[in-house]
Amino acid sequence: MSEQPLLVVEDDPGIQRQLRWCFDNYRVTIVDNRESALAAIESQHFPVMTLDLGLPPDADGASEGLKALAAVLDVAPHTKVIVVSGNDDRENAMRAVAAGAYDFYCKPIDTDELRLIVDRALQLHRLEADYRKLVSETRTRVLENIITASPAMEAVCRMVERVAPTDVTTLILGESGTGKELVAKAIHGLSERSDRELVAINCAAIPENLLESELFGYEKGAFTGALKRKPGRIEFASGGTLFLDEIGDIPLPLQSKLLRFLQERVIQRLGGNEDIPVDVRVICATHQDLQRKIADGSFREDLYYRISDITIQVPPLRERGGDIALLAKVFLDRYRKQFKRSCDRFSQEAIEVLTCQPWHGNVRELEGAIKRAVVMSDGAQVSPEDLGLLANDEHSLLSLREARDKAEAELLGKAELIFSGNITKMAEALDVSRPTLYSLMEKHGMKGVG
Ligand SMILES: Nc1ncnc2c1ncn2[C@@H]1O[C@H](COP(=O)(O)OP(=O)(O)OP(=O)(O)O)[C@@H](O)[C@H]1O
Ligand SMILES: [Mg+2]
Repeated sequence: MSEQPLLVVEDDPGIQRQLRWCFDNYRVTIVDNRESALAAIESQHFPVMTLDLGLPPDADGASEGLKALAAVLDVAPHTKVIVVSGNDDRENAMRAVAAGAYDFYCKPIDTDELRLIVDRALQLHRLEADYRKLVSETRTRVLENIITASPAMEAVCRMVERVAPTDVTTLILGESGTGKELVAKAIHGLSERSDRELVAINCAAIPENLLESELFGYEKGAFTGALKRKPGRIEFASGGTLFLDEIGDIPLPLQSKLLRFLQERVIQRLGGNEDIPVDVRVICATHQDLQRKIADGSFREDLYYRISDITIQVPPLRERGGDIALLAKVFLDRYRKQFKRSCDRFSQEAIEVLTCQPWHGNVRELEGAIKRAVVMSDGAQVSPEDLGLLANDEHSLLSLREARDKAEAELLGKAELIFSGNITKMAEALDVSRPTLYSLMEKHGMKGVG
């Protein structure tokens, strides 16, 4: 292992010499005041530093040392700071630990002891850094499944990141095929329950008379055919996440039973009278307009409030500038490989037709269309005919201005993606000046403006 950097903040020349000798297996930088300590921390990463609390101008007190501590942690929150204080100043040492120092050490210095503390701090720093790296890698991997270049969907992803580590019940709303299930999976994947089960149940797909036993389970003899006890999906999800998909379709009688479970976090199996506690995180999704269902009496308002601590609205595909072209390309690559076809791009007309579709079935419909086109296509290019999207009414009805706006938004989205938002390169590729590019981006509500 190469020598690790260590920052020593100490104003006493005698102790400076002692520490340099003590840490001969470290690359030691010694400074004697707050400013130099900050300058050092800003110019280089130090996993560990020792900090004398009694720094000038308050060499007999701790005020300067405590200020230095706060300033250092502000810039380098992961640096392990070991505070060195006078033997009669444990109180300030404790204060420093409360303010974020990793440990403290009281003079006089026993070099063996101090070395042990510093070595241990370095080890912990390394472990924590590894852990942070792992967490951030998992984070990108999970969110990578949600392919997008649009600010609206980016906002959804940021929300997923914020909501995931908490246990709040989350309601995901959005048209059919927008990716609600993908969002639910991302929340679970980024949560502390990610190593446990994500149990999904589609409330619309199961007949009403079976849904109750499916959710809550049953005891032996609860009904004809209940030959042995069977735990339900909710119980099965214990420790993990329960995804109630199409919650808008759940019949009224079951809504009250579900409400009780959500309020009290206990369930009773059918034919049983024992309360079984369940520890699950609940995510619900629906494409239905719950407000309308509440108004017409087919959805309980109290249940609505219980499931919507946080609501995530997934935007329809047609409102995600740039995403149609991006997703089309991703699906083209995916199915081209799967079906071993040679088509690897869309013709210009195909892209125009694709981006002008309303895509009421959203991403799922787009994916289906591309899959079909790949199967149908026999050349290198996917044509509008392959897509089965010739003579689109809406397309021909677009005004020139609308068509231009759409094309602009599409192109900007693509350029932003290709050049990772680098304005100079984007402007060059699109052959416009930087100010023009900025105003275009602003017009289309794209980030990176400012
Ligand atoms: N941003 C995206 N990137 C990649 N694939 C996506 C994206 N959004 C959706 N998909 C894909 O589209 C399909 C539909 O997504 P999903 O099932 O999550 O939608 P949904 O909103 O739950 O739809 P429904 O309301 O019909 O249940 C899935 O195959 C999913 O993988
Ligand atoms: Mg779904």
